[in-house]
Formats: sequence, structure tokens, C-alpha cells
Amino acid sequence: MGSRISEEKIEKIKKSVDIVDLISEYIHLKKQGRNYIGLCPFHGENTPSFSVSPEKQLYHCFGCKAGGNSLSFLMQLEGINFIESVKILAEKANIPLPELEVNQQYEGSDKRNVMIEGHELAVKLFHHLLLTTEHGEVGISYLRSRGFTDEIINKFKIGFAPNTWDTLTNFFMKRKYSLPIMEEAGLLAKREFDGKQFDRFRNRIMFPIWDSQGKAIAFGGRIIGEGQPKYLNSPETLLFNKSKTLYGLHLARPAIRKLNQIVLFEGYVDVISSWRAGVENGVATLGTALTEQQAKIIRRNAETVIICYDSDQAGLQATYKASAILQEAGCFVKIARLPEGFDPDDFIQKYGAERFITDVIGASLTLMAFKMEYLRRGKNLQDEGIRLHYIEEVLTEISQLSRSVERDHYLRQLAEEFSLSLDALKQEQYQIYRRQKGKAKNHTSQKIDAQIKRKEFAQKRLLPAFQNAERILLYHMLKNDEIAFKVQEKLGGSFQTEEHDAIAAYLYAYYAEGNRPDYSQFIQKLNDEKLIQITTEVAMMTTNEELSDQELSDYIKLISNYPKWIEIEEKEKQKKEAEKKQNYTLAAQIAMEIIQMKKNLSGG
Ligand code: UTP
Ligand code: MN
Repeated sequence: MGSRISEEKIEKIKKSVDIVDLISEYIHLKKQGRNYIGLCPFHGENTPSFSVSPEKQLYHCFGCKAGGNSLSFLMQLEGINFIESVKILAEKANIPLPELEVNQQYEGSDKRNVMIEGHELAVKLFHHLLLTTEHGEVGISYLRSRGFTDEIINKFKIGFAPNTWDTLTNFFMKRKYSLPIMEEAGLLAKREFDGKQFDRFRNRIMFPIWDSQGKAIAFGGRIIGEGQPKYLNSPETLLFNKSKTLYGLHLARPAIRKLNQIVLFEGYVDVISSWRAGVENGVATLGTALTEQQAKIIRRNAETVIICYDSDQAGLQATYKASAILQEAGCFVKIARLPEGFDPDDFIQKYGAERFITDVIGASLTLMAFKMEYLRRGKNLQDEGIRLHYIEEVLTEISQLSRSVERDHYLRQLAEEFSLSLDALKQEQYQIYRRQKGKAKNHTSQKIDAQIKRKEFAQKRLLPAFQNAERILLYHMLKNDEIAFKVQEKLGGSFQTEEHDAIAAYLYAYYAEGNRPDYSQFIQKLNDEKLIQITTEVAMMTTNEELSDQELSDYIKLISNYPKWIEIEEKEKQKKEAEKKQNYTLAAQIAMEIIQMKKNLSGG
């Protein structure tokens, strides 16, 4: 592994953070039997096949086969190396790693860390300037005028960048931070004529933007009062990718967990105001339309999402688009409605927290109800042509509903409103459905899901008996060192599947070093993704927990006989060949050999 952090320390760190808690920070997990299940973060899916075992401290996806322990999870999900994931886990466990130990390993990710440090320092500086200096007075009075309380300012670490060119630049210079790196981090800008760095953000209210783990990675800077641009945001950097970030996610996470629901806003201030109003499960996109990646993050964290965008034309259109993306990601989508021309912050300022909770969030529409409203906006339904077109549009939407009770509900509503026959509407809707089905066939994500299912099925059916036997033995060997010793004695390195043989070899060595059965610790030794995958898969199998001596020797026999079976099969072929050539003496001779070979087999 090439790490200089001792193995004991790594084990200690790993043991201090439960894998269920760790993974829960990224995806919504539900208890099911002894395990927890959720949507796999490593491939797109709408039904959960990702399983986490608190007992074994392992995860495994039955769909895409991803698997491993806490460290592999962090490495895979965050795309970081081993030492970086140890560092993240150590932080969560509150176990200090000596600075040197970490830095020696760092190299490639050094820059990333320095950039994060730069942001953390800037957050502190801006916050300090806002709260305790003359510079910040104009900022504070602006925030007060918009109803920001001290508590909120602290919670969201809001700050102020003074109207100077060198405050942050000097601050970094004094602390010996590389200015070009701080420029690359988006905190400073560069003068054309002499290539010197200066403060990018000036005279702005500073909203820190965090990654999903709560590390500051960017800023949104709001101008005081009117002016352009209203918000100056950090550019895309090594740290900051707008399309993968959701503002406020790490702060909202506890409430999201509790409610299994996320409220999606358009603006920073909307998230903050609704927090003040008691809605603590809000996140926001960062000035761009919702992306598929963001939708996936949302779906991983909660089942239901309430879209709460501005109620102007642009906001409605954005709602319509976002709803499709979220639905595609597998979210149950609801829509909060605001009076025309209001954004969530305006509403709270004008009508207060209680009405926001009951009349806006609490009164969210189902997606279908919203679409019906959306589709009829600005249309004169008295006009027969327009009305028929509207009905057709609604029927098209209804055809996309998967539950027949729902379809029935809206069909009835439509029939009633326009005094139409329910049967006629149903027939029409069915025709639309048939046409859509033809088109939907090459839907990519459905295709991949189906592919995975087919593959899984094929694998289950085709896994030959000896391979199953090997897996069952490995399952028990991982759990019980006595069984491992017995297998080592009787079978040794005679596993027929290359990977199984390798895993057995690692396992013999692991126990020989005096280690106790421990899935997560053992996996650490494997150092090979494929082997880790298979080991996790085996460890997460459902099979009898007990293994009798009789079963043990049956399995061993099955495996060690396998090469002989191959030989017998070969002989059978030769025999058939001889028969075909009408060489009956040879055929009879081979038949005798086969009988002898089979006799030897049953002896074990
Ligand atoms: P809005 O224009 O709706 O602003 O932009 P807002 O959230 O209501 O902000 P306040 O209440 O006027 O202070 C919504 C979001 O779009 C992005 C920001 O993320 C903002 O929160 N935006 C807006 C920008 O990035 N740049 C801009 O110039 C304007
Ligand atoms: Mn606003």
C-alpha cells in the first residue's frame, strides 16, 4: 500500500467510524433485515440494490458489483487515493494524523488541500470583517435590513469583502500562501499589465459555498443594493464544479435524513430565509439550471423533493424542466406554489414563517396537478381548438403516470371539468400511451437497468456447482479461522477459479499472521479492486450460517474433483468421436476408462 501510517492506526480509524454512518452521509439508507439498503451511488438505478452490512462493515451493490469497506467507499465515491480517504475518515473519527505523515503521502493532492485551506481562511476573514470591523458596517446594515439575524449569519458563515484591492491578497501573502494558487482557487484575480494578483471579491456580501462534506470550496458574493452582476461567483476550479454542487447540502443533511425530503430552491438567500422560517432541509443550485448530477445527489439523499422556485415565467419554466430531470432520477417530485412574482424569501418577508410552512411548503402540488396548471397558463380554454389541444397535452402527461389509480384520478378530474365522457378520455389516453411506448423503447437508463438485471440473472443461473462450492467455502473461511485452517489443510491452493484461489491465499496468510476474522481489515490487505469486489460479494451472500463437517468435505470433494470431471468430459467426447467413426473397439475401451475414472472419483 506504500502508506507510512501504521496499519494499527488505520484499523483504529476505520473502527471508530461506523460504515452505516459514513455512507448515510452520502445516500439515504433504509434498514432491511440485518443490513441497510439504498440506491447505489456508483451506477444509475431506481430500485435499491446497494447493501451495507453494519456487522461486516462492508458494502456491496448487487447491480454493478461495487463493493468494499469504508476506505474503498470514500476512494471510489470521491475519486481520491488511499491516504486521502484515511485522512477524511481520521477527521470524522477525531483521530489526529501527524502533519508529516500526511504530507509525505500527499504530493498530487497538495494543491487541492492548500486551496481548501485558502477558502477556510477567507471564510474566517470575511466573517470577522463583517462582524467586528468598520469595513463590515455597511454589510451588516444591509443584512439587517433584509432580516438576517446573528444566528443565521453565524450558521451560514456569512461575511463581507471590503472595498479594497489587497485585503485578502495581503492576508495570504503574510501567511506565505502561494498567490498563483489562490488565484487558481478563484479567490484572487490577476492584473493584465503586471501579472500581479488582487482581491477578486470587493464590496460584496460573501456567502461561502461548501462541498457535501462541509469544506468551503467557493463563494457567492452579493453586491450591496442594486447593480451588476448581482452575484459574483467563484469560477470553476479544481475544487468547485457548479453542476455537481448543491448550496447548503451539508447543513441540511440532518433534516433531510429525518424527513426523507429535500426542498430545492433557486437562490442562496432562499435557502437561508427558509431556514430561518424553520425549513431546514433546503438546498439550492448555483445560478444554473438543475443538472442530472445534482438530481442524482438529491435522489441519493431523499425520496421526495419539493421544488420551490420563483413564480415568474422563467421560474415556472425552470420548475418544469427540473421536475423532468428529478423524476428521471427517480425522485418523487412535488411543487411548491408561490403567488405570482414572489420568490421564497419575498414571501417569508411579507407573510411570515408560519404561512410559508403551511401555505407554500405544506400545500405543495403533486407534479401532475402542477403540470395541469402550468399547461393552461395564458390559454383561453373557451376556444374549442385551444381547449382540445390542452386536453391532449394533459392526456399525454397522464399517460406517463405509472400508477393506474393516479391516472384514473386525473382522468376523472378532466372529464368532470370539461363535461366529457370518462370512457372516451380513457380510450384517447390509451392511444397516446401506445404511441409513447413505441418511442420510449430506446430509453438509455432503462436499457442499462435491464442489462444489469439480465446479467445478474445469467450469472446466478450459470455459476457452475464447483464455483458455488468455492464461494460457500470462502464465505465460511472469512467468518471463521478454524474452517479456513481446515480448508487449507485439505484443499490448499486448489481452488479452480483463479480469483478464489488468490483470495484463499491472502486469507491463509492473513490468519497465519495471527489476525482474527475481520472482513474490513482483511479487505485492506487485498489491494486489488477485482479481489475486493469478489470478497465483498462473497461476504454479503445469503447462505447457511452453519457448515457441518459433512458439508465441508462434500464441498472440498466437489472442488478437487473438478479437474477430473473435465478429463471425463474430454473422454466422453473422444468416445462419441470413435462411435461416429464406427471404431467400436476403441469406443468400448474408452467407456471402460470412463467407468474407472468415475469410480476413483467417488473415493474422493
Ligand atoms: P435571483 O436573481 O433570484 O436572486 O438569483 P435571489 O436569490 O433572489 O437573491 P436576492 O434575494 O436578490 O439577494 C437566484 C440565484 O441565481 C444566482 C445565485 O445563485 C442566486 O442565488 N445568480 C443570480 C448568480 O449567480 N448571479 C447573478 O448575477 C444573479
Ligand atoms: Mn430573493
